Amino acid sequence: MSGYCENSPSTSVIHGVGVGLRSQHYQHILTNKPSTPWLEALTDNYMADGGQPLDYLEQIRNHYPVTFHGVGMSLGSPGPLDRNYLQRLKERMRQFEPAWVSDHLSWSAYHRHNSNELLPLPYTEEGISHMARKITEAQDFLGERLLVENVSCYVEFRDSQMSEWEFVNGIADEADCHILLDINNIYVNACNNSTQADDFVQGVNPERIREIHLAGYEDRHTHLLDTHGEAIHQPVWDLYRQAIERLGPVPTLIEWDTNIPEYGTLQKQALVAEDIISASSRAHAHAA
Ligand SMILES: [Fe+2]
Repeated sequence: MSGYCENSPSTSVIHGVGVGLRSQHYQHILTNKPSTPWLEALTDNYMADGGQPLDYLEQIRNHYPVTFHGVGMSLGSPGPLDRNYLQRLKERMRQFEPAWVSDHLSWSAYHRHNSNELLPLPYTEEGISHMARKITEAQDFLGERLLVENVSCYVEFRDSQMSEWEFVNGIADEADCHILLDINNIYVNACNNSTQADDFVQGVNPERIREIHLAGYEDRHTHLLDTHGEAIHQPVWDLYRQAIERLGPVPTLIEWDTNIPEYGTLQKQALVAEDIISASSRAHAHAA
């Protein structure tokens, strides 16, 4: 293993089902202190100095463990990593001591253009080396092992040489990083691209997984759109149950980014996930 810190000392307090921290809930969380075990902050919302978001995050961090989840690294882009972004991130890591930091296996920026989308790469050996090089560079700079997330994808590349899960495993091994497994993205890709969601869940390397994401998609009839704007759909719950059966009680996050409901709705979704984890743990204990 490399000499990275095994994430911050607070890693051990991340367990159970957390919720994505959104500005609509800042005041509710501070006033009511819900029993949510941890919160995931969207890193890019807290990069600017000063202002309300940073102020709220400081207050909330006094009561909850947090993880950082970002969209700004653009790990698949051809150019160098944005050192200003990484430096900012490093400062925020020092300030808030997140249990871990994650970003996506995608690219957004090309030269001076930024699509603000999480765009996929073809699943090739070259793609693995490229992405692993960038992740290693980011990890060396931050001094910490990252989590990288599988993204939703609406096309299949003619150049792909392997399945998505082999691609993800290859990157994690070569970069010696962790995986953030987004179950909704696996399901959306399987429906849109005729791949097998079960194969992904059974094939991904369990040793590398540190977190799971759950979210809702929108059914556009011709395809599924990864909107994070609805409750989690039954096929995603079914796939999650399979994943927990295989991987054990991996910390799980309820992601909701558009049409954001009241906090209680997120808590109800978290309870469903907790029930699945508990039932799987009981079944394993009984079998043992
Ligand atoms: Fe996600």
